Amino acid sequence: MKIAIGSDHRGYLAKEKLKALLSELGYDVEDFGTDSPKSFDYPDVAAPVAKAVADNRVERAILLCGTGLGVSISANKICGVRAALCHDELTAQMSRQHNDANVLCLPADLIGEALMRRIVEVWLETAFEGGRHARRVMKIMEIEKQNLCRGNGGERPNPAGDPPGSDSKK
Ligand code: RB5
Repeated sequence: MKIAIGSDHRGYLAKEKLKALLSELGYDVEDFGTDSPKSFDYPDVAAPVAKAVADNRVERAILLCGTGLGVSISANKICGVRAALCHDELTAQMSRQHNDANVLCLPADLIGEALMRRIVEVWLETAFEGGRHARRVMKIMEIEKQNLCRGNGGERPNPAGDPPGSDSKK
């Protein structure tokens, strides 16, 4: 599975550690920066990472900033992206099972390395449950189509063409 990763300056150190973990776990990682602890605005990395997911160039993505809020708000502006800000293993698991989240956002200032590693592992290993949740994810896509996506690629709100729940990306 190919995974994009990106962070602002506050997430930089954690991103470097997660990159090593992902490689260890056998994932193919594409790093979108930032590449130092120097101040870097989170929308400037969240947008290209989210677009890589929306365009199906990577299967999933992980974004980090201090709180995880800036990157999640930014990433969710891109059609086809369901970015979930997770603080623990349970929200990570539920974001996959119920919401088919394709971007994981992490609060680098708020949680430690060990928890972050566990969240990432759970999030990558958990499949979407489909069923009634697929109907709800379809409704999210409908909201995008009606409100967000006109003229900015919204013609392809589900760029992979997969029905929600088909875990063909694994
Ligand atoms: C940067 O100072 C900080 O605002 C950012 O990392 C993030 O927490 C924003 O949501």
